[in-house]
Amino acid sequence: MRRVLAAGALCALTSVPLSAQARGTFVVLSGGDTVSVERFVRLAGRLTGAIETRVSGRTSRLTYSVLKDGRGRPIRLEFALTVPQQGLSTAALDIGPDSAIGPVMLADRESFHRGAVPNGAVPLLYPLSIAMLEDLARAAPPRASSAADMPVFTWGNQRTGAATRAVTRVDARTVDVSEMGGLRLSLNARGEVISARDVGGTTTIARGPAPAIVPSLTTPASAPGRASTPPMGWNSWNRFGCRIDENLIRETADALVSSGMLSAGYRYLNIDDCWEAQQRDANGNLAADSARFPSGMRALVDYVHARGLQVGIYSSGGTRTCQRRPASLDHEVADARLFAAWGIDYIKYDNCNAENRPEQVRFTAMIEAVKATARPTVFSICEWGEARPWLWGRQLGGQLWRTTEDIRDSWLSMLGILDLQVGLEGYAGPDGWNDPDMLEVGNGRMTHNEYVAHFSLWAILNAPLIAGNDIRSMSDSTRAILMNREVIAVDQDWGGRQGYRLRDDGAHEVWAKPMSDGGWAVVLLNRSTADASIQLSMAELGLATPWWKRLLGVRDRRHVRDLWTNETTEIVGVLRRDVSAHGTVMVRIR
Ligand code: GLA
Repeated sequence: MRRVLAAGALCALTSVPLSAQARGTFVVLSGGDTVSVERFVRLAGRLTGAIETRVSGRTSRLTYSVLKDGRGRPIRLEFALTVPQQGLSTAALDIGPDSAIGPVMLADRESFHRGAVPNGAVPLLYPLSIAMLEDLARAAPPRASSAADMPVFTWGNQRTGAATRAVTRVDARTVDVSEMGGLRLSLNARGEVISARDVGGTTTIARGPAPAIVPSLTTPASAPGRASTPPMGWNSWNRFGCRIDENLIRETADALVSSGMLSAGYRYLNIDDCWEAQQRDANGNLAADSARFPSGMRALVDYVHARGLQVGIYSSGGTRTCQRRPASLDHEVADARLFAAWGIDYIKYDNCNAENRPEQVRFTAMIEAVKATARPTVFSICEWGEARPWLWGRQLGGQLWRTTEDIRDSWLSMLGILDLQVGLEGYAGPDGWNDPDMLEVGNGRMTHNEYVAHFSLWAILNAPLIAGNDIRSMSDSTRAILMNREVIAVDQDWGGRQGYRLRDDGAHEVWAKPMSDGGWAVVLLNRSTADASIQLSMAELGLATPWWKRLLGVRDRRHVRDLWTNETTEIVGVLRRDVSAHGTVMVRIR
């Protein structure tokens, strides 16, 4: 059987060292009918990726995440696998030294290949990953002088001894692998695989552009909507709760346009719970509350569309919504058709009164019903993070998934939600976003500094920016926060890489997000009630001046743009800023 492995976009590196961060794609064509594409992102302490395999025209998808300890040893494995006609399985397992996966945990992919994939799925996984080989190559610096001294790494199921592979470092640029009949890999100076040769006579590996199937990897082709950057808009719930009516919606539509919010990017006007009549109509359809929405939904949607906005609506995968209005469980097809007929562009689908029926089944039913309407619709999974929707939301076809319970207009609620985002960064990306809930900016119970912190942090998290205040009476200070275009640009960066907590000093934290221009967005957060000075060395971002430049007395200067004062300065080596109590400083560094 002929196999071709083409490494396209392999390790598209920025200036950041590979150990801190890397991403890549590789493609395996095996025989006539098997195609696998893997994309991975490696941040310090975490490897995440997705593998899509097509066999006989059927596509299976696996997403995975391997968490490592401070010494780089895998300690936990999480994955979600969708197999045609078998549905979706998710699992997470802690990896111990004596786990069935085997004690030699050199190979991240191998770990679930061996121990964590349900019956029938193993053939879908190709047992060799370039990411893995590069790890191995780096783990074995070529110091020995004779081949006999070269380290050999094995992996596989050490208990049964089955299928053990070996990797031998031949010299600085060559690695042999006892896989697929034998491969000889050539490495570049950074330890990346640049080409490979078949030693056993059955395998060809060639570097080359990835085939055109790659773009379909992360988003199911039939996803109901698209959200290449996190959705931006407004939602009625945080400020108005059930006190909504068609006048509020119309006035808010007008205000979104006249305030400049629409031009700043806030294009969805989302009507949350309580728009519904208390009962379905005589035909069994959902109906708007006729006292509050006398003109009906279709007319209201037309009004909002005419202003250049898009419209979102709310329902729940339960018998009743959280405010006990009729909801969509077992009415998915009819309700999705009704929403499409009204011209709805965005559905927030909640989780109340679910009768203990499994999340994924209920959310799948509605997403499939929405897909069947063929109307492009953003689908927001509002499941509060209970069944870890970051593991399966994207596979089901959702574009965003709530990661926590409801936000409240308070500093502690906002920080509590922030803390729950740690470790989720690997799951977000174009067309699938972690949603730490809507904004409270401008609702009155936090100080200006606290709202600046809230907005800065939500931007560094790539959070959907869904304003939750009264747009009609926004103060200048609220307007300045919500419409800070440089902060919005961080949130909307096309690379879609979620920021993460780079340092946690207790009351002081540093959050960092790799930007697609090769620079970083950084938030210095002071959680305490005392002003503080917070420092960040460029080395922590992988931007240290190389040793040979330092020897020559050269120190790299970095441009630092403060996104709230709009000042640009230069720094050498260390960023140092005074950060007020309950405050933030947000900068971009290039
Ligand atoms: C849940 C959701 C909120 C809001 C309310 C409406 O609590 O998490 O965002 O939609 O329901 O009832």
